[in-house]
Amino acid sequence: MAQSVDKRVCIIGAGIGGLTSAKYMKEEGINFTVLEATNYVGGTWRYEPKIGTDDYGMPIYTSMYKHLRTNLPKPTMELRDFPAPDSWPSFPSWKLFYEYIKDYARHFDLEKHIKFLHIVTSVRREGNVWKVKHKHIPSGEEFVEEYDFVVVGTGHHSKPNMPNIPGERLFNGTIIHSHDYRVPDAYKDRRVLMIGSGPSGMDISLDVAETAKTLIHSHHSVVNFRTPFPANYIKKPDVKEFNENGAIFVDGTYEDLDDVIYCTGFEYDYPFIDETSGLTLSKRSLTPLHNYMVNIHQPTMVFMGLLVRACLVIAIDAQSQYATALFKGNFTLPTKEKMLEIWQKRVEAIRSKGKPISHIHFVDHYEDQYYEELTRESGIPRVPPVMFKIRIKDTEAKLENFYTFRDYVYTIIDDETFTRKLEKGKCNKLHCEP
Ligand SMILES: Cc1cc2nc3c(=O)[nH]c(=O)nc-3n(C[C@H](O)[C@H](O)[C@H](O)COP(=O)(O)OP(=O)(O)OC[C@H]3O[C@@H](n4cnc5c(N)ncnc54)[C@H](O)[C@@H]3O)c2cc1C
Ligand SMILES: *[C@@H]1O[C@H](CO)[C@@H](O)[C@H](O)[C@H]1NC(C)=O
Ligand SMILES: *[C@@H]1O[C@H](CO)[C@@H](O)[C@H](O)[C@H]1NC(C)=O
Ligand SMILES: *[C@@H]1O[C@H](CO)[C@@H](O)[C@H](O)[C@H]1NC(C)=O
Repeated sequence: MAQSVDKRVCIIGAGIGGLTSAKYMKEEGINFTVLEATNYVGGTWRYEPKIGTDDYGMPIYTSMYKHLRTNLPKPTMELRDFPAPDSWPSFPSWKLFYEYIKDYARHFDLEKHIKFLHIVTSVRREGNVWKVKHKHIPSGEEFVEEYDFVVVGTGHHSKPNMPNIPGERLFNGTIIHSHDYRVPDAYKDRRVLMIGSGPSGMDISLDVAETAKTLIHSHHSVVNFRTPFPANYIKKPDVKEFNENGAIFVDGTYEDLDDVIYCTGFEYDYPFIDETSGLTLSKRSLTPLHNYMVNIHQPTMVFMGLLVRACLVIAIDAQSQYATALFKGNFTLPTKEKMLEIWQKRVEAIRSKGKPISHIHFVDHYEDQYYEELTRESGIPRVPPVMFKIRIKDTEAKLENFYTFRDYVYTIIDDETFTRKLEKGKCNKLHCEP
């Protein structure tokens, strides 16, 4: 699509996806607007002690918890053209990373392009344009505007995926989802059941286990976690059902419980798109997308960060640059038929392995190939292979020991190589107050 002066871009969300898109669009002199539902930038990286609803009665967006340190090392958390401060530890706290995002927005002077407290409620394809409806939350005033290109940067770590386990309603203790987990204080000296072993499941388990009486961790991962878990940690299989006082597991064993935390992930949530987008949305997938991001049926709509198992910050940054190059007309996409063919091949590969369609978003060991593909198609600078290599090394370190993987410092030597050394002492194993 060749860009002409009066063409306009709507960027939805001012998290990393929205901000990096805004930065590249601005550099190209593109006419764009960012619509952000909250009154701050940084999306999920802002810690909000409150849970439930905010001052405007809107659901609290962020899932950040107080003791969070990044689960990827510094070199894989840096945005292009904006080096992270030297003073960062190898795995910064949410606080340092959030400051960094705010500094990024300030440095590239992006805030004046953002309409805060504007929530997008509908994006419809009508003729050759996108009709974007948005509401100014405090006043309730509604706007409808036409755009030529839409960047969806609304994230996917906000709407809890609830497992619906039998007997849940009978259980007399507390049940929350990790979206509402903030601090371990309420779990002191209690018997806590944690369900799930994704990044949050492991991290929050250890956070809670520091003060809980017993931490019962239920999950069905076949991964060999070699972490030396503390004496108050008990591993259990899936929960069969709850009763008033506790849970019965699928192996027939039973545990008394005071509290339950579901670390069962999030649902993809795009309430503003409809059938005119041509997309199919389920809790765990959005299809069909080219390169994990371009709406194949309406290629003037792109999605940021719909990737699982990747250096998300770096991948999103590259996607933003790709989206900008696409809008700018620097390259043309393959034909719709070709994009569908490529996508269909991936679907078939997933089906033949008996995996669910949600795996369409798993980049994992294709991560480096993905960066190569983005560059080959669009001409944007390539994300160097060393990033993927660092992530693989970091993943191994996590399996080895969840308490110590953040003691490693990773230094990039060149596009292909890095060094790693052990450096203790800067932070507590789990927390890192700046
Ligand atoms: C607890 C936690 C820890 C994480 N740790 C790491 C880590 O260590 N390393 C890593 O690389 N990644 C991590 N991530 C992943 C993280 O999601 C990404 O790093 C990145 O923040 C995603 O940015 P985003 O812009 O796609 O989405 P978000 O940061 O989620 O931002 C989306 C923005 O869109 C806005 N929005 C939503 N709906 C609308 C609407 N309808 N209208 C207008 N605005 C809207 C929201 O208010 C929000 O500001 C973590 C995620 C979580 C939840
Ligand atoms: C951007 O587009 C809007 C709507 O067409 C227009 O009012 C505005 O002047 C444009 N801005 C620039 C810098 O071209
Ligand atoms: C439920 O919990 C309350 C206090 O939290 C307690 O007083 C009550 O006895 C409990 N009921 C059952 C059936 O365990
Ligand atoms: C688009 O191409 C021009 C000319 O080669 C280049 O200067 C610019 O950086 C490219 N833009 C993007 C976003 O890749």
